[in-house]
Amino acid sequence: MKFLLSSVFLLALLGASYGYSASWGKRANNDYLLSRQIEVRNPIKNNYWSVNVDFPRAGTVNYYNISAVFVYDNFKNSSGASPSLWSGGPGYRFATVNLRSLVSKGINSTVEIWGR
Ligand SMILES: *[C@@H]1O[C@H](CO)[C@@H](O)[C@H](O)[C@H]1NC(C)=O
Ligand SMILES: *[C@@H]1O[C@H](CO)[C@@H](O)[C@H](O)[C@H]1NC(C)=O
Ligand SMILES: *[C@@H]1O[C@H](CO)[C@@H](O)[C@H](O)[C@H]1NC(C)=O
Repeated sequence: MKFLLSSVFLLALLGASYGYSASWGKRANNDYLLSRQIEVRNPIKNNYWSVNVDFPRAGTVNYYNISAVFVYDNFKNSSGASPSLWSGGPGYRFATVNLRSLVSKGINSTVEIWGR
């Protein structure tokens, strides 16, 4: 019982840190902003959005190493999308960030890729 309670507590903590804004890696002062993309979706009733943001964009080539990935939730009221890094990111030249909205909520998130 005690174990169960602490697992639930841990899950709640993880859920909280899963968050709405997120960052991976570290940006140095002389890094370049390689990409800034704003993803906006209108809410779908009783359903959620799962949007993949790919860097570099299809048909483009990126020669820089990624140092940091930032995702900002523009809603700022805890109804925004949860970001996860699905592939690539810091140390790679590509990244896929997934934005998953809450049920019946939209998305307005900014994805920034920094590197050099
Ligand atoms: C990018 O990373 C590769 C592999 O780690 C390294 O060989 C290369 O020098 C890096 N390029 C820059 C511009 O830092
Ligand atoms: C998304 O958020 C940005 C930054 O707060 C804001 O300027 C923009 O108007 C928003 N877009 C929509 C469609 O709400
Ligand atoms: C959060 O902000 C967005 C954009 O301003 C709005 O559409 C949404 O209804 C808000 N959610 C809550 C729970 O206030």
